[in-house]
Amino acid sequence: MSNVEADWSTGSNQAVNIHLVSPTQTLHNFYPKFTYPIFGDEETIFGYQGLNINLKYHACDMRPLLQVSYNKKFKAVGETEPTDLKAILGGFLPKTAFEKTSDFQAAISSSTFSAWTPPGELWKTINTGSKTLEIWKGSLADMAVQQIVKRIQILVPFFIEGGTAIDLREPEWSLERWTVFFLYEKKGQEGLEPNTSPYHFMGYSTVYKYYFYQTLAPPSSLEGKKQQLQPKTTHDFTFPLPEFKLSSLPSRSRISQFLLLPPYQKDGNGSRFYNAIFDYFLQDLSTIEITVEDPNEAFDDLRDLNDLARLRTLPEFLSLKINTSVQIKSKGPVPKEILDSKLLEEIRTKLKIAPRQFARVVEMQMLSLIP
Ligand code: ACO
Repeated sequence: MSNVEADWSTGSNQAVNIHLVSPTQTLHNFYPKFTYPIFGDEETIFGYQGLNINLKYHACDMRPLLQVSYNKKFKAVGETEPTDLKAILGGFLPKTAFEKTSDFQAAISSSTFSAWTPPGELWKTINTGSKTLEIWKGSLADMAVQQIVKRIQILVPFFIEGGTAIDLREPEWSLERWTVFFLYEKKGQEGLEPNTSPYHFMGYSTVYKYYFYQTLAPPSSLEGKKQQLQPKTTHDFTFPLPEFKLSSLPSRSRISQFLLLPPYQKDGNGSRFYNAIFDYFLQDLSTIEITVEDPNEAFDDLRDLNDLARLRTLPEFLSLKINTSVQIKSKGPVPKEILDSKLLEEIRTKLKIAPRQFARVVEMQMLSLIP
């Protein structure tokens, strides 16, 4: 790096500071984990000294304010120009993001927020210790849901490696296949600032419904063509008529993005949120299987532990007599003869766990049984 570059470069992971605010104070602030999808692989911003980028969110409806400040800005020389921060960040934020602090302050200070509720409908209330959590859900075709998603999508590249925002310009039938779950803490009236919302945003998750392709036995006249008719894999297929509504058709519900903001991580909230989403799709008649898109290691852990705990609530799962000597000898994945058992398949389909994930969790159970 040349001297000029070194003098005028700032690490973007430290330059961006995210705040959750009420009208009178910052409730939490934290830094992004990744900024390379926004500022490039080097995660640096060129052209400023003393740079600060504050992304402030109103803690209930997540209206954003983008504040950029610096001591000095590099004067362009030929093609060497300072990074155009507003243009770059603007591409990840809604057009309605505030740039003037006074406008933001006026907007979030409205007394109507005391009656504000998250978009969609309330799915679950969880009381944990002295806290009350609420999980709200809605369709992405709902404009109020979409509005919040537009405001928070920048958090996906900030916190999920390889995560990408949903294209909200998709046609309505496609948006309808997305269900968005919002996790909020609902504060009690005690200690709440007057005219402010009791709702504090903690995280969100998006789930996409795919048609669940099932192989039908071909008529005997086509027996010879069976090979050609069989799908090569049992992966997800897009339904041949894409605009078909999936609400009453057998579907796979795939958790696509799952995110808890850093102040709320490592406190069991991810597990509570995951289980609430799982509970929703368990009672959803059209969902045959619940899957996850590209889970990272942390999410895999959370999923494994919670799926295993859920399975262990079933007496039929606990009563499984597993021949542990088979497992010890093979050391590999769960032996086929065990996984193919009718009872296991019944348990799997009852809890809508995808086959590979189920095999993982059964293996964990088997390992835990080894004396
Ligand atoms: N006190 C202390 N620790 C606890 C408590 C508690 N009360 N409850 C659970 N824990 C521990 C768990 O045992 C677990 O420990 P481990 O890290 O040693 O395995 C850990 O805390 C995490 O469990 P949770 O608290 O339930 O999970 P968390 O709320 O931290 O959520 C998640 C995990 C979703 C990965 C979160 O950290 C996050 O959003 N990270 C950033 C984004 C991300 O990576 N998302 C997943 C991407 S994959 C996808 O989107 C499909």
